[in-house]
Amino acid sequence: MMGGGLIPGSINAIVGTYGTGKTTFGLQFIWEGLLIGEKVIYISLEEREDRIYTYMEEKGWDITPYKGKSLIVVRLDPSDFSLAINSIRNELPALIRQVGARRVVIDPISLFEDLFDTDAVRRREMLRFVEDMRDQECTIIMTSETDKSDPYSSRHNLIEYLADTVILLRYDRREDRNDVYLTLEVVKMRRSAHSREIKPYEIQKDRVLVHTDATVF
Ligand SMILES: Nc1ncnc2c1ncn2[C@@H]1O[C@H](COP(=O)(O)OP(=O)(O)OP(=O)(O)O)[C@@H](O)[C@H]1O
Ligand SMILES: [Mg+2]
Repeated sequence: MMGGGLIPGSINAIVGTYGTGKTTFGLQFIWEGLLIGEKVIYISLEEREDRIYTYMEEKGWDITPYKGKSLIVVRLDPSDFSLAINSIRNELPALIRQVGARRVVIDPISLFEDLFDTDAVRRREMLRFVEDMRDQECTIIMTSETDKSDPYSSRHNLIEYLADTVILLRYDRREDRNDVYLTLEVVKMRRSAHSREIKPYEIQKDRVLVHTDATVF
């Protein structure tokens, strides 16, 4: 659907409501990086480090050889405003360079965006952050929850403008059939002739699997 995958060095947004598989997607992305010998960083604004390691182990992945070496997990507590801002603004770029990370996941960036009091400050800070990230030699995934009233928009309707790629994860309800299914679409992808189709996907134990051969009705 993306014409070969995320573009190396690009900044990508995964937008979806709760439980649509954003974390699973992010973890799968860093795991695949580890398997090809890349160094990866996972910034968690929601869960503690040990929980992230446990999630990965529960997926059946043996992270022992990578833990603390090529796999760096950092818990960032968004309740400490100045610490969180300083960590994302100053320490993250330094950490990426120090580790030599090729893949970075920030899950979810929406908790960071929540820290700012006004839209103007949020916009300025996020612009600056994305600009700083562009100078890094790594591929970045930022996840975001959706807006409460708009399932097509990220919480602050900002990262879709800043990111190179936007992937939207959604629940679709079929009232007549009394079930819910998940759909994925590549809404935007700079420098790529990506698919415009909406495809069903499922969250499996160890991966997000998109059924590109199936059609959504
Ligand atoms: N072992 C599993 N096998 C199949 N599906 C699973 C498994 N574990 C979790 N899921 C599904 O994945 C969903 C959670 O996925 P994930 O945590 O990646 O979503 P998320 O978008 O990050 O959610 P949140 O916004 O709450 O952080 C669960 O609601 C469940 O439907
Ligand atoms: Mg999550």
